Amino acid sequence: MDNQSLKNKKIIISAGASGIGLATAKVCLSRGATVYLCDLNEKYITKLKKHPLKNKRLFAYVCDASNEYDVSNFFFEIKKKTKKIDALINNVGVAGPTGNLEKLESDDWEKTLKINVISHFYFSKLAIPMLKKNKGGSIINLSSGAGIMGFPLRSPYAASKWAVIGVTKTLAMELGKFKIRVNAICPGTIKGDRMVRVIRDKANFLNISKKNIEKEFVSMASMNCWIYEEDIAKTCSFLISNDGERISGQTIAVDGNAIRLD
Ligand SMILES: NC(=O)c1ccc[n+]([C@@H]2O[C@H](COP(=O)([O-])OP(=O)(O)OC[C@H]3O[C@@H](n4cnc5c(N)ncnc54)[C@H](O)[C@@H]3O)[C@@H](O)[C@H]2O)c1
Repeated sequence: MDNQSLKNKKIIISAGASGIGLATAKVCLSRGATVYLCDLNEKYITKLKKHPLKNKRLFAYVCDASNEYDVSNFFFEIKKKTKKIDALINNVGVAGPTGNLEKLESDDWEKTLKINVISHFYFSKLAIPMLKKNKGGSIINLSSGAGIMGFPLRSPYAASKWAVIGVTKTLAMELGKFKIRVNAICPGTIKGDRMVRVIRDKANFLNISKKNIEKEFVSMASMNCWIYEEDIAKTCSFLISNDGERISGQTIAVDGNAIRLD
C-alpha cells in the first residue's frame, strides 16, 4: 500500500471549515481519510453541507473550540460514529491583537491564550482516550514562526504559540509509550485571508502601505516566497501517514526558511 495513503484513517480537525484547516481536510479526504471537523462559523459549516462527501467521509459541526461544553458536545457526536481515531489536528488559533504590550488589554491576552492554548487542551483531553483505543496515532498542534522567534506587536500570539510547542514536547513524552506521536507545525506567512487581516492591521498601526508590509513579510523567508495552505495540509498528511510513523516531539517549520519575523 502507498505509505502516504490515509485510507480508513479517522481524523479530527478543529477550526476546519476554512483556511489551513479546510485545506487539510481536503487533502486528507483526497487520500482516503474520514474527517470530523468543527468550526465556530455557521455559514462555513452550512457551505460544507454541499460537499460531495458530507455524511460519508466528511462530518462538520458548529462548535466554539474555546468553550469546553461545545467541545464535549462535538466529541459526543463523533463518538456516535466511531470509538477510535487516528489523528487530532489542533488547528484552532486566532491572531490576537496588534500593538505594543503596554497598550494591550488583559482581556485580549486572556482571549488569545484561551483560544490558542486552552482549547487545544480541551480537544487533546478528549482525543487521547480515542487514540489509545486505536493503539496509537498522531496529534498535530498548529504553532507558528511566532512560536520559534517571537513576533513584535503580537506578544499574546507569540506567547500562545510558544506554549503550544511546550505542550507538544511534553505530550510527546507522556504518550510515546502508547505509540501516540505529537508534533507541532509552524507555518510561515500563508497566502490567505488571515494574512490579509494581519497585514492590514500592521499597516494601520504603523501607518505604512499594505504593499510594503506584504513585501517585508515575504522577504522574511530565505526562499522569498509565500507559503500556501496546502503546504501545511500536506505536512499534516505526511505526519499522520505511515511514512511519519517514527516522528514525534518535533517542531516542524513550513516557512521557506524564515530567518526573522518583524
Ligand atoms: N495563516 C497564517 O499565516 C498562519 C501562520 C502561522 C500559523 N498559523 C496558525 O494556523 C492555524 C490556522 O490558521 P488559519 O490562517 O487557517 O486561520 P483562520 O484565521 O483563517 O481561521 C480558520 C478558522 O478558524 C475558525 N475559528 C476561529 N475561532 C474559532 C473558535 N473559537 N472555535 C472554532 N473555530 C474557530 C474560523 O471560523 C475559521 O473558519 C492557526 O492556529 C494559526 O495561528 C497561521
